[in-house]
Amino acid sequence: MEDSHSNTAAVQATNDDASASKLSCVKKGYMKDDYIHLFVRRPVRRSPIINRGYFARWAAIRKLLYQFLDVEKKSDEDPPIKKQILSLGAGFDTTYFQLQDEGKAPYLYVEVDFKEVTSKKAALIETCSPLRNKVDETAVISREKGEVFSAHYKLLPADLRDVQQLSAIITHAGLDPSLPTFIIAECVLIYLDPDSTRAIVGWASQTFSTAIFFLYEQIHPDDAFGQQMIRNLENEYISHFHSILGSFIKLELSFPDI
Ligand SMILES: C[S@@+](CC[C@H](N)C(=O)[O-])C[C@H]1O[C@@H](n2cnc3c(N)ncnc32)[C@H](O)[C@@H]1O
Repeated sequence: MEDSHSNTAAVQATNDDASASKLSCVKKGYMKDDYIHLFVRRPVRRSPIINRGYFARWAAIRKLLYQFLDVEKKSDEDPPIKKQILSLGAGFDTTYFQLQDEGKAPYLYVEVDFKEVTSKKAALIETCSPLRNKVDETAVISREKGEVFSAHYKLLPADLRDVQQLSAIITHAGLDPSLPTFIIAECVLIYLDPDSTRAIVGWASQTFSTAIFFLYEQIHPDDAFGQQMIRNLENEYISHFHSILGSFIKLELSFPDI
């Protein structure tokens, strides 16, 4: 946890980059997302290779999420299967709002990120009616705490490098470790040191009895997609860029067989 403040800010800013790229992808018709524009202040047009890369990422997670959410009870007499989704480093991801529209939202959807990010997301949920309408009327929204607390959706702040904070989230959010749980780590663990990543994966396997751990990360910084992504990050966050590139390289060195 010895990262400087500026590195942490650079890692948080990758969320803005992801949101802008998703919006670019939506505008070109690669994917549907009726909410992402609410999270982007400066829309940008990405190159086709980035749009395609984001489409692949979106399609991969969608396919697996639907497989998980569509598993049905075995007989009519059985009660409906309660399911949970836990999104680590969720950023401004809008999957919860989309699943609500599709009538597929699980019993409980929990999102976790740094407080600086969850505070901004909580503020947007509070003030944008398309988002506000998707959490129940009695939801408690606190920008100061960076929290949204509703019956089926919870947004909470935590530093993923501190596994004890993750354990506290289980209780605070009302996650039931015995329920089927889909854990999302989408372009997040790459920004952590390998020991923290190992600790999170170990924590998840010890905590949940039936879980899917969905991991999607950027690798191969020297292929065409990697090069373009690095150029984008370089243009937007020039002063912190090397710490981000360092994350890619650390990942490749620590897990060379991926
Ligand atoms: C590239 S964004 C991805 C956001 C989202 N998962 C998506 O796919 O759109 C990385 C996110 O991970 C979060 N993150 C990185 N390290 C974190 C940590 N130690 N604790 C909490 N969040 C973290 C950042 O704040 C950021 O929102």
